[in-house]
Amino acid sequence: MKQMMNRLMLVIFSAGLLLAAATAGFAGHHGTHKEKKTGILLVAFGSSEASAQVSFENIDRKVKAAWPDVAVCWAYTSRIIRHKLAKQGKQLDSPAMALARMADEQFTHVAVQSLHTIAGAEYHDLTRVVGAFKSMGDFESIVLGYPLLATQADMEKTVDALLDMIPADREKQDAVVFMGHGTHHPGNAFYAALMFQAQQRDPLVFIGGVEGYPEIDDIQSWLAEKKIKTAWLLPFMSVAGDHAKNDMAGDEADSWKSILSESGIQCRTVMKGTAEYDSFVAIWLSHLENALNHFH
Ligand code: CO
Repeated sequence: MKQMMNRLMLVIFSAGLLLAAATAGFAGHHGTHKEKKTGILLVAFGSSEASAQVSFENIDRKVKAAWPDVAVCWAYTSRIIRHKLAKQGKQLDSPAMALARMADEQFTHVAVQSLHTIAGAEYHDLTRVVGAFKSMGDFESIVLGYPLLATQADMEKTVDALLDMIPADREKQDAVVFMGHGTHHPGNAFYAALMFQAQQRDPLVFIGGVEGYPEIDDIQSWLAEKKIKTAWLLPFMSVAGDHAKNDMAGDEADSWKSILSESGIQCRTVMKGTAEYDSFVAIWLSHLENALNHFH
């Protein structure tokens, strides 16, 4: 009796082993092992302004030149911009939509690169989307690259890039005012931190935000204190889009140009987004390189 039981157990055990082997073979046959396919997803806030496209084209060109064998996809975080563009017949993906598409196209390794300036609300949302895809396990690996300003090295490189942006015909006594976006997000502190470091190099450089501290009223009072006669206004945003055109250089009474002109300061404007300058693009690309290095 005991011998028979042992034999029976052995049969069941062997059958189990066979079944396991067959299942493994079956799964393999159906290609659960994917070929390595690496992709880059560039994520910008987005813009519907034609003047902004030069910035995106510049980044796109630089990324493709640096990684010629890697597919490059794009997504815009702003729903408003995506809807505006859709009405013009241009379909732009949200980050989640782009990643779902990349999963469907059998990408195994994805480097998501934020093209934002600070780690604010847009970047924060992006970390959650990337985290969700990580936990779903669609990709073998998915890594998110920092926005422009993250490490102290980024701050220093950004100060260099900002100072390089200043036109050659700026006189020593002229102020230079950069318009950042600004946000209610805690990441807004980056603007004042950057201004502090820029002023160590050039005391007449100011960095403010349309939607956050330092605001134009703060900057106006600082310029008045220093008896500034002329101020150069430049966007500190990746694109010279709607904010640069209207809030910075527009003729409306509440534009930065109008507010400063009203207090007797002569304004000169430069309409070029940071992503049009190679020095800024190089910082974003260094973050993308760090992300891609996870895949080796
Ligand atoms: Co805005």
